[in-house]
Amino acid sequence: MRLEDASDVAELCGQLGYPAQTHEVERRFDTLAKLDDAQVFVAENASGRVVGWIHVYIVHFVDSDAQGELGGFVIADGMRGKGVGRALLAAAERWTLQAGCQAVRVRSQIMREAAHGFYEHLGYAYVKTQKNFHKVIRDGTV
Ligand SMILES: CC(C)(COP(=O)(O)OP(=O)(O)OC[C@H]1O[C@@H](n2cnc3c(N)ncnc32)[C@H](O)[C@@H]1OP(=O)(O)O)[C@@H](O)C(=O)NCCC(=O)NCCS
Repeated sequence: MRLEDASDVAELCGQLGYPAQTHEVERRFDTLAKLDDAQVFVAENASGRVVGWIHVYIVHFVDSDAQGELGGFVIADGMRGKGVGRALLAAAERWTLQAGCQAVRVRSQIMREAAHGFYEHLGYAYVKTQKNFHKVIRDGTV
C-alpha cells in the first residue's frame, strides 16, 4: 500500500463493515508504514484502482511462538471470486514466512460464512469460537 491508495482503501473499509474516512486511513497508514512487523498489501486493477487490501502483522506471545495475524482483508464487490483474495492472502503468508513465523491466524466474525469457506479451502483449520470484549479507557477509568 502507498499513501495515495488511502481513498480506495477507505472505500473498501466500508464494504468490510468498518466505514472510514480517507484522512483516517491516511493517519493509520502513516503509523503502520513505520512498523517493521506489519504490512498492508493492495491489489490493483489495470487502471491502478485498488480492488482489495489485506493487513497482516506479527503477534508475539509468552505462551506460544510468534505468528502472523490478519487485521483487515477485503476484496471489492464485483471483484470477488476471481482469485484476488487468494493472491493477497498468499502475499501475506509469504511476508509472514519471511518474518520468521510458521503460522498465520485470522479471527473472523461468526456471520462471515463465505469467508470461512474461503479460509478452509485455502488450508486454514477452524480452531475455536471466542467472545470478543472491548473497553474504552480514559484517565479515571483505569
Ligand atoms: C473472503 C474474500 C476476501 C475472498 O476473496 P475472493 O477474491 O472473493 O476469493 P478468491 O476468488 O481468491 O477465492 C480463492 C479460492 O477460494 C475458493 N472459495 C471462495 N469462497 C469459498 C467458499 N465460501 N467456500 C469454499 N471455497 C471458496 C474459490 O473457489 C477459490 O478457489 P480456487 O482458487 O481453488 O479456484 C472476499 O470474498 C471478501 O472480501 N469478502 C467480504 C469481506 C470478508 O469477509 N473479508 C474477510 C474478513 S475475515
